[in-house]
Order: sequence, then C-alpha cells, then structure tokens
Amino acid sequence: MGRLDNKVALITGIGGGMGRQAALTFAREGAKIIGCDLYEDGANETVRLVREAGGEIVNFAPVDLSNAEATAKWVEAAIAVHGQADILYNNASTPKFGDVQDLSIEDWNFVINNELNLVFYAVKAIWPHFMKNGGVVLNIGSIAGTRGVEFMSQNAHGTAKGGVISLTQQLAAEGAKYGIRAVCVSPGFIVTPSTAWLVESGPEPFKKNIARIPLGRVGQPDDIVNAALFLASDEASWITGINLVVDGGGTVLG
Ligand SMILES: NC(=O)c1ccc[n+]([C@@H]2O[C@H](COP(=O)([O-])OP(=O)(O)OC[C@H]3O[C@@H](n4cnc5c(N)ncnc54)[C@H](O)[C@@H]3O)[C@@H](O)[C@H]2O)c1
Repeated sequence: MGRLDNKVALITGIGGGMGRQAALTFAREGAKIIGCDLYEDGANETVRLVREAGGEIVNFAPVDLSNAEATAKWVEAAIAVHGQADILYNNASTPKFGDVQDLSIEDWNFVINNELNLVFYAVKAIWPHFMKNGGVVLNIGSIAGTRGVEFMSQNAHGTAKGGVISLTQQLAAEGAKYGIRAVCVSPGFIVTPSTAWLVESGPEPFKKNIARIPLGRVGQPDDIVNAALFLASDEASWITGINLVVDGGGTVLG
C-alpha cells in the first residue's frame, strides 16, 4: 500500500533538484505523475529514473509555466491523461538576485512571473476541476518569503515567495468548501544542482549562516519531499492553509 495510491499528481519542474525527488517519491508511494519542466533533458532523465524504479510518469516538457496560456494547456492535457487530477505540486521557479539599486525592472518582473505568477496560472487552470472533485494544492515557498537576510539580495525572490505563502492561505480559505486543501512547504537551504556551489564557494556570511543550523546540517531534497508527501496525502486531510517551515531549525535563531 502506497500513501498516494490512486492519486494523480501534477508536479512542476521535474527536471532536477527537489522536483525530480518529488516525482520519484510520489511515484514510489503509488501516485501517477504528470510532470513538466522548461527543459526536456532533465525531465526525460527524471522519467527514466521513475520508470526504472517501477513508477508511472508522463512528461510534457518543454512547458514554460511563466506563460499563462501554455500552463493552462499543460494542465488541461495533464488532466486528460487519466481523466483525473488530485494533487498540484507547484515546485518550479526561477529566481534572480540583485541589490535594489542594481536589479532591473525587467529582472524584477521576471522573478515575479517565474516564481509567483506561474503558481497562480497553474492553480487557476486546475481550479474548476478541483471545484468538482476536490484536490490538494501543494506550493513550495521559502524561508526567504518571511525574512530578509544580509548575505543575499533576495528582494524580488523573497517578495515572490511571500506571495506564494499568502496565496496558499487564501486558496485554503476559498477552496475548503469545494474539498480543496492548499498547503505550503518552505524550505531552508537545500542542496540541489542550482545551490550546491554555495556550500563550496558561497560568501562567508552565507557559510556562517548554514554552520549554525541547529540540526547540524544543510537540507537534502528528501527533507522537503517527505514533508510534502505527508501534506499531500490523506493523512493530512484536516490540514490546510499552513506554511510548514523545513529548515533544520535555522530560522528559529533569528
Ligand atoms: N534549493 C534551495 O535551497 C531552496 C530553498 C528554498 C526554496 N526553494 C524552492 O524549492 C523549489 C525547487 O528548488 P530547486 O533548488 O530544486 O530548484 P531547481 O532550479 O533545481 O529546479 C527548478 C526546476 O524548475 C524548472 N523551472 C523553472 N522555471 C520554470 C518555468 N517557467 N517553467 C517550467 N519549468 C520551470 C527548472 O527548469 C528546474 O528544473 C523552488 O520553488 C525553489 O524556489 C529552494
């Protein structure tokens, strides 16, 4: 018995990092995965790994989720595969960083589009289906969404992730009467292909920050996906609107 048996899970950004791990774990727990990514190569490799492990997955990459129309088409096609969709796992995002005085307006808008708007586009596309059948929206926020830091110019990124966290609360409020739950997992620092370099050669204040994580290590994709698995499953059927911080305790230190 898997914890997600008979569920269909749409997962964005399966091309690597936590999205790939989400596809592997959710498939292992019995979910049928419908994935997408901006890039085909990474997504195809995830498909190979999931099938090799005995899981079920269909991949629609390339899809640019920052384009509302493309996202709506993907969601429609994804639901059509099994005539069903139970979980929307909004993992994909592309950040950009820069000090306020340096970040261009184009880059600001890019981040809002590629970290916040893409979540709303996917939610809006699946919402009518979820209104009929119920469902779970699982968003990936970030500890950047609720605090500022001195070691990274995350003004746009933090704003977008703060938006994802508050959007989750409102989706929970609006969705409950339709049997829709909305939950957010906010990772601390997780080692993925996009962030691994920071551990080796990140700036000193960043290294200091991760060195004082109370649980004594940086995070791995599994740390996030295991939390997401619980929240997406029926075990969490009375949980909605939360922002679960998974960060080894890093943010409790202030
Ligand atoms: N790694 C961390 O330390 C960390 C910390 C906090 C939050 N997060 C969040 O966790 C999630 C996954 O992070 P990760 O480190 O695995 O990222 P990643 O960059 O390794 O993977 C993100 C995937 O999303 C895809 N993607 C990005 N924009 C897209 C778009 N417009 N359309 C379709 N696909 C798109 C990318 O191609 C990539 O495969 C993200 O939402 C990220 O903001 C990460």
